[in-house]
Amino acid sequence: MSKTPATGAEKTKAAPPRAVLFDAYGTLFDVYSVALLAEQLFPGQGQALSVLWRDKQIEYTRLVTTSNHGAHYRPFWELTRAALVFSIKRLVGQTPSTDATASFDMQVEQLMNQYRSLSAFPENRTVLQTLKERGIPTGILSNGDHAMLTLALKSSGLHGLLDHIISVDAVRKYKTAPEAYALGEQTLGILAAKVLFVSSNAWDALGATWAGYQTLWVNRYQLPFEELGTQPTRTGSTLRAVLDFFPPSASS
Ligand code: LAC
Repeated sequence: MSKTPATGAEKTKAAPPRAVLFDAYGTLFDVYSVALLAEQLFPGQGQALSVLWRDKQIEYTRLVTTSNHGAHYRPFWELTRAALVFSIKRLVGQTPSTDATASFDMQVEQLMNQYRSLSAFPENRTVLQTLKERGIPTGILSNGDHAMLTLALKSSGLHGLLDHIISVDAVRKYKTAPEAYALGEQTLGILAAKVLFVSSNAWDALGATWAGYQTLWVNRYQLPFEELGTQPTRTGSTLRAVLDFFPPSASS
């Protein structure tokens, strides 16, 4: 695990966290399989398509959260589909004939089905089981709506290993809205400063840090962090870094 420079929280020796919340997509669930299928469907474009899809999906969450007092809010599943349709049109082209429309719709369905049943990263199960053994309350705090989170937990084999499934759908505002992050402390009944928030998305680790959480950025792909002057509490390269916050002795 590599460590980023100490943040204010570390310098003042923040109290150890009492609970942990996880982001879902990219953090617990591996979205890589989507790129593989995208490459099969659109040879040479799979990687670009999956990156544009992800970026567009997050852009849409911000558009509907910040525009017109939330009047255009739609659940994450719908935004994910809209972002995929946009991305295929942008990279592969429009659909002029009826036949092409049918095959376009099928490709969208295939990719959405893949997104519905993602696998977990290999170490996740052990990490969640260890947290359970150590008596640490756990949860997901995700942009995903309840139905898609429940399905993803089942298909990745992580079902039953988390105490709370918290969806921002409850406040109809996506991360990084303060109301979205506040759902975590409200559900746990623990102040954000005593909760660890874990995300592989740098923007999400930043938003959670700004919202007052202790944060772990799981940087699986050696990416740079956001350049906005705030660092996560710690950085790790896999989910195992979570366990460093909860040593066995501290929980007994
Ligand atoms: C989530 C996305 C942002 O699960 O990864 O909230």
